[in-house]
Amino acid sequence: MEKMHIAIDGPAGAGKSTIAKSIAKKLDITYIDTGAMYRALTYKVLKELIDLNNNDIIINIVNKTTIELDKNKVFLDKQDVSNEIRHPIINNNVSKIARIPEVRMKMVEIQREIAYNKSVVMDGRDIGTYVLPNANYKFYLTASIDERAYRRYLELKKKGILASFQDIKNEIINRDKMDTERSIAPLRPAQDAIIINTTSKSIKMVINEIIDLIGNEG
Ligand code: C5P
Repeated sequence: MEKMHIAIDGPAGAGKSTIAKSIAKKLDITYIDTGAMYRALTYKVLKELIDLNNNDIIINIVNKTTIELDKNKVFLDKQDVSNEIRHPIINNNVSKIARIPEVRMKMVEIQREIAYNKSVVMDGRDIGTYVLPNANYKFYLTASIDERAYRRYLELKKKGILASFQDIKNEIINRDKMDTERSIAPLRPAQDAIIINTTSKSIKMVINEIIDLIGNEG
């Protein structure tokens, strides 16, 4: 099979990871959760009590850190941090770390290396625009802010994490704002991306829509 790269971008809570994971499984190719990489670094910075505004220390840390993805798990310096990186404290701080250009350079290098010789579904914010500009397929998933906040609320509730709907909504609004306004590789659809509004659509409907598009064009 020819190498196939599928980029899935979009704002927080648009359903990217669930959908990307399922498409990768259906196509039997690797799923890469790039957000998990930024989250893992944020976890380390917070754990080591580093000032989030001190770019020099953070850049120094990123160069001494290994972040690996394996079978939907995230390893930070060989330690599995897959659960820890989903905590609300990470949501509230990750965009501050992800806007540092040197951090992005390191992460993008790892992401491109993984995709270099294999087929992948990669989800994030800048995959279609920056990480894999020549991807075979680019999708940009959106949904209304209320729908995205409600999905996150249900997801957290299921895990036993209590948070108010309004707090989640504010966190998503702030994160999207920082991700959209940063100077390097901001969140935006690639010019050649297919935009899918997932409001009022089930996960299954969106997956089928994407699989149909790939099938029809591929
Ligand atoms: O996708 P997820 O919500 O896990 O991403 C967490 C954060 O990581 C985003 O809000 C963004 O700040 C950062 N991110 C990024 N570029 C990517 C993926 C994630 O800047 N490709």
